[in-house]
Amino acid sequence: MVRAWYMQDPVKDQFLENHLDPPQIVSQEDLHKRTGIFSAHIDLASTNENDALQNIPQASQCGYRDVVEISPEKMGDEFNKKVAIFFDEHLHTDEEVRFILAGSGYFDVRDCDDKWIRIACERGDFIVLPAGIYHRFTVDGRKYIKAMRLFAGVPVWTPHNRGQAADQLPARDAYLSKHGLSVL
Ligand code: LAC
Ligand code: NI
Repeated sequence: MVRAWYMQDPVKDQFLENHLDPPQIVSQEDLHKRTGIFSAHIDLASTNENDALQNIPQASQCGYRDVVEISPEKMGDEFNKKVAIFFDEHLHTDEEVRFILAGSGYFDVRDCDDKWIRIACERGDFIVLPAGIYHRFTVDGRKYIKAMRLFAGVPVWTPHNRGQAADQLPARDAYLSKHGLSVL
């Protein structure tokens, strides 16, 4: 089970959990209903990382795979810059598919009422953000994550930051109609 909850907006410190008071937890089922996100936890104790994905259809259609590590140690001066870019609200014209191999971090996504849900990811978590969903990402207080990036076809990582231009992309329309959501 991937943990998710409604979060404070704006955040005081993006690296903390930012629960509401009292906390409002989001089940995997509600997360799917309210955002179209697919998430799963895969046991990595007894299989290697690629074999573990064999039974997940959302992964097996992704021929492209690479592994990225985000940390001050690995990235030096680029770390703060990259973390700031990842935390700018954006969408992509394709699915964002990630399999977390080590460390941890948060995917924040807008639900059907345009409210932020924070999804905590750690080793073994697999997540598919639909094309056209507004989201952002941050490492947590540990400031370390190692993730496999998967893509069907030739990867396009371009973020379209929230705004009129992004709102008008066909992927945004397609997302809203496919998931029957009523986000503005
Ligand atoms: C990405 C994450 C940071 O676009 O949302 O790679
Ligand atoms: Ni993204």
